[in-house]
Amino acid sequence: MRARLLRFRLALGAQALVKGLAGLRQSLQTENIAAAQNRMIEVSNLSKRYGRHLAVRDISFSVSKGEIVGFLGPNGAGKTTTLRMLTGFLPPSSGTATIAGFDIFRDSIEARKRIGYMPENVPLYDDMRVREYLSFRAQLKGLKGSDARRQVTDVIDTCGLESVRRKMIKTLSKGYRQRVGLADALVHQPELLILDEPTNGLDPVQIRQIRELIKRLALNHTVLISTHILSEVEMIADRVIIIDNGQIKAADTPQNLINEMRTAGRVHTEIQAPFEEASSALARINSVKKVTSELLEDNWIRFTLWSDSGTDTRQCIHKLCMENKWQLRSLVRHEAKLEDVFVELTRKD
Ligand SMILES: Nc1ncnc2c1ncn2[C@@H]1O[C@H](COP(=O)(O)OP(=O)(O)O)[C@@H](O)[C@H]1O
Ligand SMILES: [Mg+2]
Repeated sequence: MRARLLRFRLALGAQALVKGLAGLRQSLQTENIAAAQNRMIEVSNLSKRYGRHLAVRDISFSVSKGEIVGFLGPNGAGKTTTLRMLTGFLPPSSGTATIAGFDIFRDSIEARKRIGYMPENVPLYDDMRVREYLSFRAQLKGLKGSDARRQVTDVIDTCGLESVRRKMIKTLSKGYRQRVGLADALVHQPELLILDEPTNGLDPVQIRQIRELIKRLALNHTVLISTHILSEVEMIADRVIIIDNGQIKAADTPQNLINEMRTAGRVHTEIQAPFEEASSALARINSVKKVTSELLEDNWIRFTLWSDSGTDTRQCIHKLCMENKWQLRSLVRHEAKLEDVFVELTRKD
């Protein structure tokens, strides 16, 4: 009797365990599904080889719906190659990518429907008029009749092309050509915009106009925008992916990247003091990682103190000068910028 009871209890325990595990699995699955549903781009171990040159090396990253992500890297970093793979124009050598859950090659039609791609050098037909060109593109993308007409009118309005809609494309300025490129990318109402250096070659006024337009589009699109211009990323993006030499060096918000920098805090100071003594005393200040110096006129020395982000060594420097009766004529804190992160991550030495 007792043995039966025990067996019964054991069976109950096992049942509860199995139930518990099933519940756990279910909740994990639900979480995965939720994460996946929120995912616009998922890149896994993507590589591209041109002959012997590995242009993109096993990169992985994701972009959530609604994000504006800057894809930042110097020329030749592999930005265009990556974007061309994401948009299905270039087969990867290995790895995969999905757009809103659709594999860029196995479900390329579904994936491409969701992408508005503006390539690096927008290939426009010079001998077409703007509206005519956009209608032609709309049809290529499968829009028909009144749908196509309405969409073309819409993107002409959105991109500020009203005044040039009857003009031949070859007569347009570079700024307007870029806007036609954007209109083309938008005409089939994609959720995701992939823009490859959209402000390249524009003058400052045109750059500002295109950035404003992109910011407006970002209100209701997910945007992945490549650039080698730092200020552009700071102005537009919520998050930055830094790529160099085909590899991802960092991916985070600009502020987090700055905070995590090894030597984000920097103070420049000019002191009149015995060189050796001052150098070693400054290097001993808490949190100082590195001291560099430059000799100026009349025994003045310019020191630069590098320390962790968020630290401010100015008071310690001041105190040190007071104690040693050194002359102090300048004490300036340099706030780290995304540029510093970029330089540190992409430095060739
Ligand atoms: N079609 C190609 N054939 C051979 N090499 C290429 C080709 N396209 C790009 N590359 C090389 O791949 C690297 C990455 O290029 P790219 O993706 O255009 O960089 P980015 O857009 O960041 O400037 C560069 O070294 C470039 O010279
Ligand atoms: Mg490029």
